[in-house]
Amino acid sequence: MTRYMPPQAVSFEPPRRVLMGPGPSDVHPRVLAAMARPTIGHLDPEFVRMMDDVKELLRYAFQTANQVTFPVSGPGSVGMETCFVNLVEPGDKVLVCRNGAFGGRMLENVKRCGGVPVVVDDDWGAPVSPQKVNAALDAEPDVGIVAFVHGETSTGVRSDAKALAAIAHAHDCVTIVDTVTSLGGCPVLVDEWELDAVYSGSQKCLSCTPGLSPVTFGERALAKVSARRTPCQSWFMDLSLVLPYWDGGTRTYHHTAPINPLYGLHEALVMLTEEGLEVAWARHAANHAALVAGVEAMGLSMLVDEAHRLPQLNTVRVPNGVDDAWVRREALARHGLELGGGLGVLTGKAWRIVLMGTSSTPANVTLCLETLETLLAEAQKDVPQ
Ligand SMILES: Cc1ncc(COP(=O)(O)O)c(C=O)c1O
Repeated sequence: MTRYMPPQAVSFEPPRRVLMGPGPSDVHPRVLAAMARPTIGHLDPEFVRMMDDVKELLRYAFQTANQVTFPVSGPGSVGMETCFVNLVEPGDKVLVCRNGAFGGRMLENVKRCGGVPVVVDDDWGAPVSPQKVNAALDAEPDVGIVAFVHGETSTGVRSDAKALAAIAHAHDCVTIVDTVTSLGGCPVLVDEWELDAVYSGSQKCLSCTPGLSPVTFGERALAKVSARRTPCQSWFMDLSLVLPYWDGGTRTYHHTAPINPLYGLHEALVMLTEEGLEVAWARHAANHAALVAGVEAMGLSMLVDEAHRLPQLNTVRVPNGVDDAWVRREALARHGLELGGGLGVLTGKAWRIVLMGTSSTPANVTLCLETLETLLAEAQKDVPQ
């Protein structure tokens, strides 16, 4: 019989980093401490009470009264899939707005659900055009769903979620909205903007560890789910099965919730209430303004027009002749500073300097500016000007 020897392994000690890449952001020690508390049963009445708290706290973060608001057990991608597999049935026409990498993932989801996509493309670095969406919906009256990303992490662009939702509703469509990067860092007003099915992530401006995806579903979205002609293709994400666990009076077993990560999310959300949403938005805006002033003073330029910038995700053009990857490698090696590179068409052309949640501090802005200044001076000394 074959026996394998145990591998040589010791406890993992992660290095100290300052996380200014596109996620995760730095996790506050209070959140880490909460996650180290004793694990209890996921049907323990005390845990169930905490689940209720988490739902209430998420309603505050999303600014909604939606009863169906809870964290999906899985990263943002699972929240994304939860929205698509529950709302899109084979043959459904779905308008997908694509102005970056994550709009592209929405398109993949539609195809895998058997939906018929209608794609509205905008340039990487530009917001979703409400005019184009309006025209596409006029041209395709049988579209029933409009999907768009509020804060495109690949480019640092914020689209006008309120305007897009209004256009979708004027055409009798339900909206699926990605707020993975926007939630907690800038206004996301689910009820005021009438967003229908919305998902986010724990590891960005909420500054919890990765692996949980807050979602919220409004009346329009739930009516569409109830009117399905076919069963949801996913057992794990089927709302009709998972809701009795998160939302029912009896809490029937569906899956074993990630107990300790949920303690962490609870703590991160308590911290958000202590700071206050508006104060958190103002902090992200102030640190963004300081970073932009600093990079522009260095002669660098921002990719996105001022009016459409996400305060938490700053895309800075890499100057000609500078090796983007070298700068990021050196920042990590010398200062433990993680910066993001460009994604997709922006690979090698942009840095993503991210000031999300706990990472959004004046000290981090200063560290980043000083590091960039030194590294750019070194990188450019041999480049003919
Ligand atoms: C806008 C957006 N949507 C979805 C995701 C997917 O989230 P996760 O990596 O947690 O699965 C991300 C992750 O960066 C994102 O930025």
